[in-house]
Amino acid sequence: MNIILLGPPGAGKGTQARYLVDTRNMIQLSTGDMLREAKDSGTEMGKIVADVMARGDLVTDEIVIGLIREKLEGDKAGGFIFDGFPRTLAQADALAELLEEKGEKLDAVVEMQVDDAALVSRITGRSTCGDCGEVYHDETKPWPADGKCTNCGGTTQKRRADDNEDSLKQRLMEYYKKTSPLIGYYYAKGQLSSVDGLGEIDGVRAAISAILDA
Ligand code: AP5
Ligand code: ZN
Repeated sequence: MNIILLGPPGAGKGTQARYLVDTRNMIQLSTGDMLREAKDSGTEMGKIVADVMARGDLVTDEIVIGLIREKLEGDKAGGFIFDGFPRTLAQADALAELLEEKGEKLDAVVEMQVDDAALVSRITGRSTCGDCGEVYHDETKPWPADGKCTNCGGTTQKRRADDNEDSLKQRLMEYYKKTSPLIGYYYAKGQLSSVDGLGEIDGVRAAISAILDA
């Protein structure tokens, strides 16, 4: 099964993708994580994208489509979760072509609906485990008091360079201008389902599972 998690920054795409990886043996393809890895390892591409990402702008279609193309060559296990990709109509068309080339199809596009007010607190309160990527939030899922990640025992709590109010504003503008047209695009193809992303993490999980099992 191949699915897209679609939603604005902070909607909970990464949080839900990790759950699907654990329970359905799916592979999470987060273009944001791939770009951050390139940045941290100091590759040429990483240097190019670092400033773009810190500002909250979108990286070029060419770069992200290239990253996804590479990953689709690898193991597909229980299927792919596209997290943060596609983000433009050109990326959506490219994904359709890439899947067709592989004889694969898209089984669902899950739109996670969250209002802007909730996103600010979600983004500014977020941290992740530097070892396994588990996602935490200062209020709703605090980094453990003993300083050890509940998932892997790692001790490095990380915050993202673009998780501040200025970058978030730009990320939201990019989302509404370039990514939200994908809602209509997938609706027209009969592939869109929507969940209320404002509920508790477990409630959102259940709503997504119901869509995938339908
Ligand atoms: P990316 O890494 O994809 O970031 P994003 O889309 O902005 O999404 P986030 O990771 O911020 O949010 P999320 O929805 O995963 O939320 P999370 O689960 O962490 O992209 C970063 C940058 O890379 C882009 O700005 C761009 O520059 C570049 N880029 C990436 N892909 C690209 C592409 N395809 N094309 C061009 N450029 C690209 O949750 C957020 C917080 O809320 C957490 O603290 C979590 O604990 C909490 N939370 C989650 N769910 C709930 C809930 N139900 N209730 C309460 N709290 C919750
Ligand atoms: Zn961890």
